[in-house]
Amino acid sequence: MSTDSVSQRPAWHDGPLLKAARREPAPRVPVWLMRQAGRYMAEYRAIRRKIGFLELCKSPALCAEVMITAVEKLGVDAAILFSDLLLILEPMGLVLEFTPDGGPAIRNPIRHADDVDRLVELQSMERLDFVMDAVRATREGLADELPLIGFAGAPFTLASYAIEGGASRNHRLTKTLMYRDPGAWDAMLGTLARSVARYLNAQIEAGVQAVQLFDSWAGCLGADDYRRFVLPHTRSVIEQLSPGVPVINFATGNPALLPLLSEAGGSVIGVDWRIRLDDAWRTVGYDKAVQGNLDPVVLLTDPPTIRRHVQQVLDQAGGRPGHIFNLGHGVLPQTPVENAQALVEAVHELGSGE
Ligand code: CP3
Repeated sequence: MSTDSVSQRPAWHDGPLLKAARREPAPRVPVWLMRQAGRYMAEYRAIRRKIGFLELCKSPALCAEVMITAVEKLGVDAAILFSDLLLILEPMGLVLEFTPDGGPAIRNPIRHADDVDRLVELQSMERLDFVMDAVRATREGLADELPLIGFAGAPFTLASYAIEGGASRNHRLTKTLMYRDPGAWDAMLGTLARSVARYLNAQIEAGVQAVQLFDSWAGCLGADDYRRFVLPHTRSVIEQLSPGVPVINFATGNPALLPLLSEAGGSVIGVDWRIRLDDAWRTVGYDKAVQGNLDPVVLLTDPPTIRRHVQQVLDQAGGRPGHIFNLGHGVLPQTPVENAQALVEAVHELGSGE
């Protein structure tokens, strides 16, 4: 690994993404995309024709290949570990499958307060060693300038999958358990929070430079319920993490939660497209960095339209240090790769030299 002879730090330390995460001025606005490796890419589809999704996640060399290919093809400023949010649930006692249409399904969901005891707290990483191997393999194959981001689901989003048994529109079973039995709820989210913290610390030890917590479904809650039932658990995860590693705290669906997300912690707050980025940054607080927030559907249009929307987001960030450009949520499978490349080019061109 090449190091800067003055600071003896690896090159990624002073790259644009980690500078932005620390709110230091950088020569250009960094950009990466949630779901930057996935079905919209021909190379990924070719690998998936040979191997199932779970099997792919459990093949560290292929995970590294999939992510490094995507990073090189797009020219982004960071890689994210190729894995899935739900893998942590297997050693916790849940039986996970991906159905042929691509969606996750849990065969033995936690349906009632009595079932909560079935959830096994993650103590050892033995059964998730393939994730740590994927971190090491990706780190090894990646240019020293590029940071690798680790990730995990936030306690609420993991609880929702564990309870509903899959994706859910209104999170009916999850909220019923939460409202009816707050004691069992807090026990369940406490178990998830301690497990997620250990899992992320293991990723940090294996070699990631930052971590992102995905609370993809938290937006289904109102602010009072988020504060009572979710915030303490997300905060607990963040408080248990190795100090000095930037944490990106991301939720989607409800901009009213942004100040609470900021209160829960994380040096970077992930913002979706349902709020202007300038309004978001103001409510989050200028003592935090922000990540976002282009609508992923913009990538289904054409390069000139993409460029106009990139300019809008950059204008709202106002050239303030601490903006990481991203989509407001993951790349859609229908996205033409050339459009994702056009996005990265536009951010690098329009967001440089402030
Ligand atoms: O960002 C990346 O490129 C890194 C890899 C990554 C995947 N999943 C790969 C994946 C990451 C960071 C995730 C996180 C994840 N997984 C989330 C949180 C992010 C978000 O979108 O809010 C969630 C909710 C999941 C659970 C999950 N995994 C679902 C609901 C699905 C099916 C629907 C879908 O969007 O594909 C998956 C499958 C999945 N995870 C695929 C990939 C590349 C597609 C699998 C395939 O068919 O090949």
